Formats: sequence, C-alpha cells, structure tokens
Amino acid sequence: MYLTHLSLTDFRIFSRFDQDVPQNALILVGDNAQGKTSLLEAVYYLSALDSFQASSTAELINFSALQNNLAVCRIVADYQKGDKNHHLEIRIIRDTLSNGNASIRKEVILDGSQTKINSVIGHFNAVLFLPHMLQIATGSPQRRRHYLNLTISQVDPRYNETLSEYNKALTQRNALLKQLNERSGDPDQLSYWDERITQAGSYIMHARIQAIRDIGHLSASIHQELTRGEEILRLNYLPSYEPMPSPPGQIELPLDNPIDRSGMDLKEIQGGFRERLLAQRKEEISRGVTTLGPHRDNLRFISNGIDLGNFGSRGQLRTALLAIKLAEVAWLKENTGHWPVLLLDEVLAELDDYRRQDLLERLSKTEQLLLTTADLDLFSDEFRKTATRWEIQNGQLTV
Ligand SMILES: Nc1ncnc2c1ncn2[C@@H]1O[C@H](COP(=O)(O)OP(=O)(O)O)[C@@H](O)[C@H]1O
Ligand SMILES: [Mg+2]
Repeated sequence: MYLTHLSLTDFRIFSRFDQDVPQNALILVGDNAQGKTSLLEAVYYLSALDSFQASSTAELINFSALQNNLAVCRIVADYQKGDKNHHLEIRIIRDTLSNGNASIRKEVILDGSQTKINSVIGHFNAVLFLPHMLQIATGSPQRRRHYLNLTISQVDPRYNETLSEYNKALTQRNALLKQLNERSGDPDQLSYWDERITQAGSYIMHARIQAIRDIGHLSASIHQELTRGEEILRLNYLPSYEPMPSPPGQIELPLDNPIDRSGMDLKEIQGGFRERLLAQRKEEISRGVTTLGPHRDNLRFISNGIDLGNFGSRGQLRTALLAIKLAEVAWLKENTGHWPVLLLDEVLAELDDYRRQDLLERLSKTEQLLLTTADLDLFSDEFRKTATRWEIQNGQLTV
C-alpha cells in the first residue's frame, strides 16, 4: 500500500501541511528539530493510532493551538491499498471545561464514516525503523510488550480490543483482591473476574505465541544472511503464566530452550490459566494484586545463546533489530496481503556503506519508503535519482 496524500493540521510543529505524496522513495531532508521525525510519527499514527514517542496524546497537538479552549489536531490521509483508495481522518481533540479540567478524545473517520478506534488500527500499515529501536531489546519488559502489542494489532483487529478488555478486567480484579485483603469477604467473588481475564488473556497469549514464532522464523533467516551465517537469532517468548505443561519429573521448563507452544488452542491455555489462578488465590489475596498473566509477559532476543538485551554489543543489537524489523515487513505482507509503508528515521546514518546499500536493496520490493536524513550524501547518486526529495524547515515544505 502507499499514501497518495497527507494533510496535517496542528500536529506538532506542523500547523498546516497539505501535500500529495509520491509513490516511490521519499527523502525528508532538513536540519535538526525541523519536523522530519514528527512527519513519520504522523504517518505511523495512521496505522497504530498511537505514537511511538509521545508520552501523552496531548503532546501531539501544536503548542499554539493548545492556547485555545478547544484544540483540534488532524491527520488526514488518502492511501491506495490493493486496487482500492481509502480516506482516513484522525482527530485529536482537547477540550478545556469551565472548571479548568481538560479532556482529550480521538475521533476516527474511515471512508466517510465515523468508526471505533480499535477497528481502524491496522487498516493502514506502516513499519518504523528508528535508531533507538535497540531499546526494544535493552529496555524494560514493558517496552517489549508494547512492541508486541503494536505489531500484532497491525494484523489482528481483535487483538487491541481484547487487550483493552483484559486491562479493564485486570484493574477490577486487582481492586477486588485489595478489598478482600483489607476487609475480607467471599473469595468466590473472584471467579467472575478470573473468567474474564483468562478468556481475554488466553487470546492475547495465543496471538503472541503465533506472532513470535512467525516473526522469529523470518528474522532468524534474515539475520543469518546479515551475519553471513555466523550468528543464530532466536526470539524467546517468556509468558508470565506458562501454558505448556512441564514434562513429568521436571518442575519448570528450561528458560533458554525454545518451547513450541504453537499447537496449543485457546481452550487449553484458558483452562490451565484459570486453574493456576485458583491455586494462587490465597497468595494473590495476601499480595492484593494479580501476579500472573500477559501484563507481565516478557520476550528475549537470543543470539548464539546470549541474551542480547543484557549482553549484546551495539553492533549485534543493531543487526538483530534490523533483522526483526525486516521480518516484520515480510510478516505483514504475508498476513495482510499488502506491503506496509516503510518509515526510516535517520537509520542509515548508523550503518556502514555496505549495510546501507544492502538495506535499501532489501526494501526495494515494497511500494513506498519514507526516509529522513540530515545528510543527503548518505545516499548513492543512483538512489537519489529514483527518489523524491522534500526539504523540511520549521514544519513547512520548502522544496
Ligand atoms: N506539540 C508541538 N507543537 C509545536 N512544536 C512541537 C510540538 N512537539 C514538538 N515540537 C517541536 O518540533 C521540533 C522537533 O521536530 P522533530 O520532528 O523531532 O525534528 P527533526 O526530526 O527534524 O529533528 C522541535 O523543535 C520541537 O520543539
Ligand atoms: Mg528527527
């Protein structure tokens, strides 16, 4: 798929931006702090309805627009997906009430009809390459869960909805555990919430098992090519509730060996999860919190037996993450039937000449590529000839 038009109103530094987008490679050039990354952020927002860097949604609204009681930021795009053209409009609205409190909401209009946010996620697909994506491996488990959630919601429309259900049920269950701990009461009240979180939770685990297995396979073979066969990359899912029964005589499954859980169905996962919660009930009441479930899952990146998150060199991490991102591109194509739009933020500057050419070569099959750079010399003459160039200055296009 590819964007044909992008229009921004009061999105970060872009108070007004309205452009047809060329289909081939587009290089965004400009000095620091001119809006290059923000433009990629806007395009990514169309796919995930979430930012890869903002800590709050209000951050996305232009500072001067925020001076008004009612501030509206808009991201509007036309894109071609297969033989169909689509129009997607996202509005982020910040309203200041008479008591001074502010409320923020999103509205989404797809092809002329207002639509639920969860059903629009992944209608437009993008994959993002960032220099700080290494933090997926080195950062907290929460960052890896966020990465998994964003990635899986791109192909599975039910995933995000189920995740919201899970989180709501989890909050309620934790409140009840706390109440039982402080004021006692009938522990059987937990059964209702156990059912809700195991139902949503098993769906999430099942989706994570499949996605990690598939992206794992794809990234392992790409990684093998990138390292000329010297390193073997493995993605290792570490669910907080282990659905796989341990073999007899063994208390726990070994952490470092890959476990194939992909044959397990939802019922099996849910059944075991429910039983485990029941067995832990007393302990959970005394701790006042849900100790098991997808909200505590983790993921590891292992190369030649080494956990890259803890022990990988920068070079190893960069290669592994590049392989994973390239795998994501292939995975999206396999699962949706369309190539995602690729967004590369300053990534090429970190690679040597050979790797840079190799990456561009690998991405050349896709339909649209948006890259940012402060330095045009990073590109070969040949690449520059085929690409369109936008110069960005202070949220405006100058060329
Ligand atoms: N909500 C906002 N309103 C206005 N300007 C913003 C907003 N958020 C960030 N900026 C400004 O946008 C600029 C950063 O843009 P960025 O896309 O990171 O630039 P680049 O990638 O070209 O270095 C900074 O000057 C920052 O202060
Ligand atoms: Mg930038």
